[in-house]
Amino acid sequence: MKEAFLKYQAQTTPHPLAMEISHAKGSYIYDTKGKAYLDFVAGVSACSLGHSHPKVVSAVKAQLDSYLHVMVYGEYIQKPALELTKLLAKHLPEPLESTYLVNSGTEAIEGSLKLARRFTGRSEIIAAKNAYHGNTMGSLSLMDYEERKQPFLPLIPDVTHIEFNAASDLEKITSKTAAVILETIQGGAGFIEPTNNYLSKVQQRCNAVGAVLILDEIQPGIGRTGKLFGFEHYNCQPDIVVTGKGLGGGLPIGAFSASKQMMDSLSDNPKLGHITTFGGNPVVAAAALATLEEVTTSNLMLETLEKEQLIRQHLQHQHIKEIRGRGLMLAAFTENAELTNQVILKAQDQGLILFWLLFEPKAIRITPPLTISNEEIIEGCRIITSILDEL
Ligand SMILES: Cc1ncc(COP(=O)(O)O)c(C=O)c1O
Repeated sequence: MKEAFLKYQAQTTPHPLAMEISHAKGSYIYDTKGKAYLDFVAGVSACSLGHSHPKVVSAVKAQLDSYLHVMVYGEYIQKPALELTKLLAKHLPEPLESTYLVNSGTEAIEGSLKLARRFTGRSEIIAAKNAYHGNTMGSLSLMDYEERKQPFLPLIPDVTHIEFNAASDLEKITSKTAAVILETIQGGAGFIEPTNNYLSKVQQRCNAVGAVLILDEIQPGIGRTGKLFGFEHYNCQPDIVVTGKGLGGGLPIGAFSASKQMMDSLSDNPKLGHITTFGGNPVVAAAALATLEEVTTSNLMLETLEKEQLIRQHLQHQHIKEIRGRGLMLAAFTENAELTNQVILKAQDQGLILFWLLFEPKAIRITPPLTISNEEIIEGCRIITSILDEL
């Protein structure tokens, strides 16, 4: 299959891992040779309930028996999308009661940027250095990584950057600013948490100058940090919340939520301010609804913090210099990129899936499903420390 994969399927790197997948269940992915891999990555934080969670699978099957796609987003009343947006509203702080469902994280970011520009009538967008918000033109414009942007220039204009966690940069947010967009916890940069009440200071500054604060919860959201939304840890209330990844329970989704008043500005003058054919797809929405119900009614979020402690305890090793992040959004740092690289590749040989972070080559990504068991955590950590012992 590998030859055909490299020939027919567009590639993202010259050297993909190219594991041939047979099936996946719980915390394990199985290859076509029958080898089991313990998954410490969860599809890059997307499979929040592990693989093929029975509640997600049965919600999808039930929906398959009723109807699939019937109409472009927003025209017909479809119960799965309606129930999903209602449940999100129940758990989001007031007045964020209106959610626009789309197909991916990056589309949700695009939608949030359009909403902020449309609502404020301003154009400047301020993003943080080392941020990652997706790969379509608008999301890419938010990145300050010149090497990755250069081949695709020109991108959208009027984007400037501030240093994450630097209060001294907040004066760059002015009455010209439409939106400040931040990841609640910076992912690709190395799982960097906001410190010294940073998000609350950004919020105050945005309120003072009439700018919209957008928080990208695509990675920390939906329980991964021990709360449903990461911002709940940091005394902050955004104007727009963007979710994706873990919301879908393994199916493709994105969502941006705002007040009804703000969101209404996308549907009028001009009408059809954002449109999408498949956003809110009933099968995807059914999977997301089952996922959100499970995360919000089970003990999973509480257990996430206990599981973090277990990982920290079992990953003590002379070559692990630091573990950053919160809950099950953790990055273990070795002393250099080469060592990290070897650990990730050797782990795969030994049946443990680990991965890299986008901009931080010393970090080993540890973002398992929220449903991972304590025994599985201990086993995964044992594999990592035994590899480090040998290196
Ligand atoms: C913080 C953050 N924002 C946005 C995105 C883009 O989401 P998607 O890949 O679904 O477009 C990602 C994906 O990794 C992400 O981690």
